[in-house]
Amino acid sequence: MAADSGNLYQKLYTPLHPDLGTGPVSVEPYISAEYFEREQRRIFDNAWMLACAESEIPQPGSYLVKEVPLVNSSVIFARGADGVVRGFRNVCRHRGNQLFYNECRGKARGFTCKFHGWHFALDGKLRGVTEADRFFDLDKPGLGLTPVMVDTWNGLVFINRGVGTVQPLREYLGSLVDGLEQYPFKQMGLAAEWKVDVKANWKVMIDAFQEGYHVGLVHRNTVQGLFTGPKRPTCRLSHFRLHGPHRAVTTPKNPDFKPSTTEALAFQLAGAGLSQEAGELHGSSGLQWSGLNPGGETDFGFDINIVFPATFIDTSFGWFFTYEFWPQAVDRTFWVAKLFVVPPKTWAQRIGLEMTIIQLREALYEDLTTLEATQKGLSSGAMDTIMLSDQELALRHQHAVVEKMVRGA
Ligand code: FES
Ligand SMILES: [Fe+2]
Repeated sequence: MAADSGNLYQKLYTPLHPDLGTGPVSVEPYISAEYFEREQRRIFDNAWMLACAESEIPQPGSYLVKEVPLVNSSVIFARGADGVVRGFRNVCRHRGNQLFYNECRGKARGFTCKFHGWHFALDGKLRGVTEADRFFDLDKPGLGLTPVMVDTWNGLVFINRGVGTVQPLREYLGSLVDGLEQYPFKQMGLAAEWKVDVKANWKVMIDAFQEGYHVGLVHRNTVQGLFTGPKRPTCRLSHFRLHGPHRAVTTPKNPDFKPSTTEALAFQLAGAGLSQEAGELHGSSGLQWSGLNPGGETDFGFDINIVFPATFIDTSFGWFFTYEFWPQAVDRTFWVAKLFVVPPKTWAQRIGLEMTIIQLREALYEDLTTLEATQKGLSSGAMDTIMLSDQELALRHQHAVVEKMVRGA
């Protein structure tokens, strides 16, 4: 059902959620080390967070090694011979050497420690011990790799610290993902990945990615034209949808967008692009893009789906991108951004995809410019509260959910 974009552009969403209020929001949660520690216990001890996509470890033996600040260590995500995705601490059970010294990905039959050669199967079981007969009372079944709590939903792999009571993943995701059960996450492959250690609170970062208020200014050299134009002078988000602690919102496109010469060439060649028309991809790929644009936005760009507390899954036709925000200290966050696309089939599509990757990379760099400066400003003591407009309703919701969990309010 198409909605009237003219009226929608003027619509206010905050009055629909009177429980969230309209007042200023406290700065303390962004700068207090004590608040950060409480968040760790009350939010992150049993939160599900996105770790990777199943398409990154597609076959039995595929593995991915990455730093996961949630569990203070590097984790091996591996698909076993039985097809099951598991997660293990990247630590040899002999004397603690790391099985992998760097983040990496690949395919293997198992994992062998480079120190003394202990060998572990894809399911984590200890399979081989060098000179096993020289050990005393070696409990091989009890010396498998230390597992981490991992589960999958529709092609996405989530991790949980697993302290206390943990909700099953699907139940945790709740109604946020009801419409996306059939979205083809599994059919899209990793096209680009960026990682940055940012000196900012994790919520400063999340805030910056769940509003369109900044787009006209911060992105004036890149994607501004995709989202703003005569009919949409600012990038006002639409169709705010709150799902318990989670939320989603739609980013409309500028209906009058005119691509630059380079963009036009790339889009003409490519099978996927940030401003790709839905129909072309739908017809060419044979995939069903179900669950997108549930509000019926006329000028649909993409949906921002935010899994509380710190995972973004932004979905559109032919591509999705994810943000992982891993809190490390009150003023430090490890950020991972990934773009997944329908794999290009021709060289022309590949070239067009490069254009999309560069465009997205530049836009993300622009987003990064404000984050550390915002943290410095908030930490300066110059103000106790921040102001939020209707367009920042998602921030207000995130703040309210965090406050409720941290303070029990
Ligand atoms: S520490 Fe791994 S085999 Fe010794
Ligand atoms: Fe942005």
